[in-house]
Amino acid sequence: MAPMLLPLLLAASAAHASSPRKRSTTDPTQLSGKTFDFVVVGGGTAGLALAGRLAEWTNITVAVIEAGGDGTDVRDQITVPGMSYLNGLTKTAYDWAYSTTPQPNAGGNPLSWPRGKVLGGSSAINGGFWCRGSQPEYDAWNTLQNGATGAEDWGWTRMQASIKKAETFTPMNDADAARFSVQHESDAHGTDGASFSSFQFVAGCRNVVRRNEYNLLG
Ligand SMILES: *[C@@H]1O[C@H](CO)[C@@H](O)[C@H](O)[C@H]1NC(C)=O
Repeated sequence: MAPMLLPLLLAASAAHASSPRKRSTTDPTQLSGKTFDFVVVGGGTAGLALAGRLAEWTNITVAVIEAGGDGTDVRDQITVPGMSYLNGLTKTAYDWAYSTTPQPNAGGNPLSWPRGKVLGGSSAINGGFWCRGSQPEYDAWNTLQNGATGAEDWGWTRMQASIKKAETFTPMNDADAARFSVQHESDAHGTDGASFSSFQFVAGCRNVVRRNEYNLLG
């Protein structure tokens, strides 16, 4: 009988040694009157990635301002992939919990619109899936710009390099890989990025796995 649990590639939230949480403060006087080369407003997925890359330059100063807390008190629900998926922070104090205006094409109903209010942003209140598009999709972004300056930054070659830079991949152990016929290509994965990814088993995700099958092979 086929196993009920299927392999799924998940990413833990960045729990890197140089985690910004270690240098965070809730005391506004620590920023008051100081100047920085860059102030990033919003410590979500985009803001923290940008601030983290800027901070790799030791000749500049960077500050991040975030409306929510640092998430230390709910750390497991953010960093443990299974918990963030099955017991996440949606509809808690860490969720801005927006509603849309009533939608004509949804029977006039407003829709729930969760957004993370915590360091890590909406990625901190969402399941941690690590997915990539395929090479033709990234190359299509490049082509759509008709040779504009920097267009190649959006093509596969540059994008894949950035995706690998963000990832630390841990392969599945040999016994489980054989049991579930999981293969991976080491060259396609990063080894020292801030986001940790691996294969995990999550019940009831058959459709998600099907849609993302190329990740299991890539
Ligand atoms: C900081 O260092 C980077 C990398 O060496 C360099 O590209 C950049 O121009 C420097 N910025 C300033 C403000 O000195």
